[in-house]
Amino acid sequence: MRFAGRRIVVGVTGSIAAYKAPLLVRELVREGADVRVVVSPTATHFVAPGALRTFAPTVLELFPAEFPGTWHIEWARWAEAMLIAPCSAATLGKLAAGIPDTAPMLVACALPATTPLVLAPAMDSEMWEHPATVGAVAQLRRRGVWIVPPAYGELASGSVGVGRLPELESILGTLEAALLLGVQQPLHRWDGLRVLVTAGPTRERLDPVRFLSNFSSGRMGYALAEAARDRGAEVVLVSGPTALPQPPGVEFVRVESAREMAAAVLERADTADVLCMVAAVVDFAPRSSSPTKLHKSGQGTMLLELETTPDILATVAQRRRPGQLLVGFALETDSEWGSAQRKLHEKGCDLVVLNSLRWGAAGFESRFNTIAVLSRQGYVRMFPPRSKRVCAEWILQCVQELRSPDAGSGGQAR
Ligand code: CTP
Repeated sequence: MRFAGRRIVVGVTGSIAAYKAPLLVRELVREGADVRVVVSPTATHFVAPGALRTFAPTVLELFPAEFPGTWHIEWARWAEAMLIAPCSAATLGKLAAGIPDTAPMLVACALPATTPLVLAPAMDSEMWEHPATVGAVAQLRRRGVWIVPPAYGELASGSVGVGRLPELESILGTLEAALLLGVQQPLHRWDGLRVLVTAGPTRERLDPVRFLSNFSSGRMGYALAEAARDRGAEVVLVSGPTALPQPPGVEFVRVESAREMAAAVLERADTADVLCMVAAVVDFAPRSSSPTKLHKSGQGTMLLELETTPDILATVAQRRRPGQLLVGFALETDSEWGSAQRKLHEKGCDLVVLNSLRWGAAGFESRFNTIAVLSRQGYVRMFPPRSKRVCAEWILQCVQELRSPDAGSGGQAR
């Protein structure tokens, strides 16, 4: 369970997306968290407090009868992290200014400087793009607040744009990162850094109804893209076909085959500072793909002629410019360490992230992974099994050390 025993205060504020809050609270409780909920008066127009109370102690007022005295100080000290989801435009403005006029604001304003605050804003795109909101978000980011960008899609007003509450998985991923890393350290934010991530499988067509592929779910690559985004990087995610929702706040390029992935990556590789090649690229594609469905020939066997696909990572490594960092992945079933060492050197990577199907928590569909990181400088680090988002944070920590070898703690707290 990702949040076993973690103490989380969840704030619910006045956005139509507040109706999703009970699902979020239930998911946190399911994942083992100890949750308390604070709700603003406006949010009660969109969500029945009883639905939240079913899962966790819930406060609606500034002076709740059931918690007399300075309950907000006690709750703020109790929390290991506070998550406000959805976070309304009004709440963003009040957080920037520090106005404790609702129950969520009371706790947020009393939060110790070392306790991370995670916001998942949701509002219409006009409000998200308003200069007042943009200013509040920038100020909060500078103060070390974690902000999950809203997703693109259909909004309550009927228009289509950026403003939707992101998928729960996205929000919970950022919360996990906040619990792991604490208040965001401005010194180590990746503002302005360009990160390119490949993810998912590729599909190599045999005919209009069949393809060669593999079991990659894309979860590890998507988690890495979201982790880099949360550090402030400009992220491009080049993804093969997956069932995952598009992560908000990243440039998303959908491809199908290894050739398409190679073209999309090579077009963008020169401007990237960090390249993480997580995709499970299919190594062999049919020499030709039939424009019509292939039919049984009547014989018991069929011969497929395959040719190798472009090695994207090796091509990028050959063209790399000074300062560019390259992270490769190696998923193995046997001879793990030898294969990973070979890929590190033959493919010209700075880091190789190794996982094995033989290691307990690992694998394509799993939300968890067990990784080891091998560096060109000669170190090997083995990490315990954790969620893919936590693994992503560890990988970025290794990248951060390559960028600035003295990387440690620093920066200002909120
Ligand atoms: N990779 C790539 N292009 C390919 C194949 C692999 O960019 N055509 C990248 C993967 O994204 C990964 C790394 O290379 O970062 C290793 O991939 P993997 O499939 O484990 O290795 P292969 O190159 O296929 O080598 P082998 O067949 O020996 O396992």
